[in-house]
Amino acid sequence: MCVKPLVIVKFGGSAVTFKNEVKRANLQVIRRLAREVYESMFHVNLVIVHGGGSFGHPFAHKYNLVNGFSDVKQLAGLAETRYAMNELNQIIVRALIDAGVPAITIQPSSCVVLRNGSIVHFYLEPIRLILKLNCVPVLYGDVVFDEFLGFTILSGDKISSYLALKLNAERLVFACDVDGVYTADPKVNCNAKFISEIEAEELASFLKSISADSGVAFDVTGGIIGKLNELIEPALRGVEVLIVNALKPGFVRRAILGEEVKCTRIVKHFRK
Ligand code: IPE
Repeated sequence: MCVKPLVIVKFGGSAVTFKNEVKRANLQVIRRLAREVYESMFHVNLVIVHGGGSFGHPFAHKYNLVNGFSDVKQLAGLAETRYAMNELNQIIVRALIDAGVPAITIQPSSCVVLRNGSIVHFYLEPIRLILKLNCVPVLYGDVVFDEFLGFTILSGDKISSYLALKLNAERLVFACDVDGVYTADPKVNCNAKFISEIEAEELASFLKSISADSGVAFDVTGGIIGKLNELIEPALRGVEVLIVNALKPGFVRRAILGEEVKCTRIVKHFRK
């Protein structure tokens, strides 16, 4: 068994599901991404993490799961959200297996414990052993049990960043539904410039300035700042972080393999 560089890939919920319809997977994109994973897996070790999209978010929102347990009525939503994430996971893992990828689900709520939303225990040994066999562990954003809150949502972004650091990944690829990061929202601001490379510290101060100035039309979804914040720590610790458009064929494969591709790279220091 040879040691290959490790790449963590996050499939954003916006790329693998149709966000505006409850529980509808984008099978065309999922199957193509599965083929791109197959084409890459002989060169790198891979861990895949997927988001919730239209499977996890509608239930998590309806039952206000992110703030933890406050009412017994939430328990139905807790079970529903777990079930929905399992359904999406099965669709993605099926597509990966059909494409020839030995994909193995690791269910986060069974191996992670949180304290006030932060990871305090994450049993990583099964993931390490799966990788040793050249198989591909597949995790996902999930409702996870929390010592203080009872439960809360652990995003796929947090899982990806955590694994990138703990497993010494070379690269962390965020596959989403946009080309990367712009200086402003390109849909409403024609002066918006694409950022192809940014140092982690510069991104951190950029995000602080955006949060401080609510007038900046950058964060259209409300979630993008939180997602970008998760990428700073791995980049500061030397992991190459790439945000790439999963809706464009071949982009994720090239990002995984470190080939030239349009994306936003977040790095510790610019290349000389
Ligand atoms: C959310 O995970 C998981 C649940 C809502 C249960 P993510 O936050 O990583 O999902 P996306 O990528 O934004 O859809």
